[in-house]
Amino acid sequence: RSVYVLHGPNLNLLGTRRPEVYGTTTLADLEARCAARAAEHGLEAICRQSNHEGELVDWIHEVGAAARDGRSVGAVVNAGAYTHTSIALHDAVEGSECPVVEVHLSNVHAREPFRHHSFLSPVARGVVVGFGVTGYPLAIDGLVALAGGGPG
Ligand code: DQA
Repeated sequence: RSVYVLHGPNLNLLGTRRPEVYGTTTLADLEARCAARAAEHGLEAICRQSNHEGELVDWIHEVGAAARDGRSVGAVVNAGAYTHTSIALHDAVEGSECPVVEVHLSNVHAREPFRHHSFLSPVARGVVVGFGVTGYPLAIDGLVALAGGGPG
């Protein structure tokens, strides 16, 4: 079984983009950490990044189908700025019944007001915000726990 780790726009720049906000870990390093935590659960991590909203929509549909078939526990999703703008991503998660844990590196609620609203949170199973790269293994643990039958 798999766990997907999906990244949205500008997260390919991780490590050099505003390190005071997002840290110095690169996306490759972060994905390696996710793969390691997934492996502890006996899961394969499928990690992808896109700057294109429609591509993220397609991937959410893919995860939803895989989760329905029992091939995946779902997706850890950091949709970047699309979090705050994308009704399409909201509808993709809802429509495909894709199990999602939403992650943000920074504490979006302590930042600009335009980052306070998320279109994903209402359709996410859980949200991990403000723990930097440490949030990803937490989110993977959370998805596994939820896939095991409930919040605990
Ligand atoms: C982010 C927060 C978003 O507001 C921002 O647009 C990002 C990264 C985070 O991980 O803190 O691209 O999702």
